[in-house]
Amino acid sequence: MQRDDEILTLEEVSEIFKVSTKTILKILREEDLPARKIGREWRFSRQALFQWMAGGHSQQYIHDENQVKDYFDQIAPQYNEQRRVVYGDSLRDIIFGHVKPEKENVVADIGAGTGYLTLELAKKAKRVIAVDNSASMLSVAKSEAVKAGLSNIDFLEGNAEELPIKPMTIDLVFANMLLHHVSDPLQVFKEMYRVLKADGKVLITDIIEHEHNWLRQEKSDLWFGFNKEDLAEWLKEAGFAKIQIKEAGCDCCTGTNDGSKTVRIPTLMAIGQKESVKPGHRNG
Ligand SMILES: C[S@@+](CC[C@H](N)C(=O)[O-])C[C@H]1O[C@@H](n2cnc3c(N)ncnc32)[C@H](O)[C@@H]1O
Repeated sequence: MQRDDEILTLEEVSEIFKVSTKTILKILREEDLPARKIGREWRFSRQALFQWMAGGHSQQYIHDENQVKDYFDQIAPQYNEQRRVVYGDSLRDIIFGHVKPEKENVVADIGAGTGYLTLELAKKAKRVIAVDNSASMLSVAKSEAVKAGLSNIDFLEGNAEELPIKPMTIDLVFANMLLHHVSDPLQVFKEMYRVLKADGKVLITDIIEHEHNWLRQEKSDLWFGFNKEDLAEWLKEAGFAKIQIKEAGCDCCTGTNDGSKTVRIPTLMAIGQKESVKPGHRNG
């Protein structure tokens, strides 16, 4: 039986609300979530927490993360078919034309989905770490990998804002069409920086800023695309250098689920590099 005066850890609260510990920390910073810090650890009273939730503090972050995860869990079986209409194989060729995985590289695909980049990466690199928070999307990717005879992929269920990857272990990190589904893109860039080795590169592709607000309901988009300035600023703030932001030269063709409306949205590509450790600076 659960007691009302039960004290919970950060990890337990994250488990209860099914969102990352990073999201809970963000709510702690930005909202009046009741908690106490004891030493370096946060402690939460179960009773105070549930009273706070019941008081109408239904947090947008919690709702958003769960909504996106449910959406992808649900569409996973049809995702590949839909994706072929939204963007074809040409985007992948453009991506690997800009940042080329080498045979000895360990690479990561964040928001890997059903394996659009993952499978090609596995043919080019030594090992691929594919991270996604939707178990159903990863399960499709896993069976595609088996069909293709690829055994050098680690599929990890996890959050892009809190990557389940050790620091400084990755040569190249990719994310295609992930960013507009996450609450905090800057945090994703910070995590990518953390897991990259010195001189490692990040390449993300995502849609350009647009006004099609209905994509929130229809496709669980949290961001209506991005502009070049924000992407550059976030990459810089996360620690990246040699930043390049450009149009990828390939549109996303998306639409309402009933097919009544379709739109073409240009894709942006953002590249950055984690520079080698400078004397007197910490890297990682
Ligand atoms: C539009 S799909 C793109 C999938 C794949 N990269 C591709 O190009 O086909 C976005 C993917 O990001 C995943 N995703 C969304 N939010 C995430 C998060 N916070 N952490 C990890 N994965 C996330 C979704 O489950 C989904 O598989």
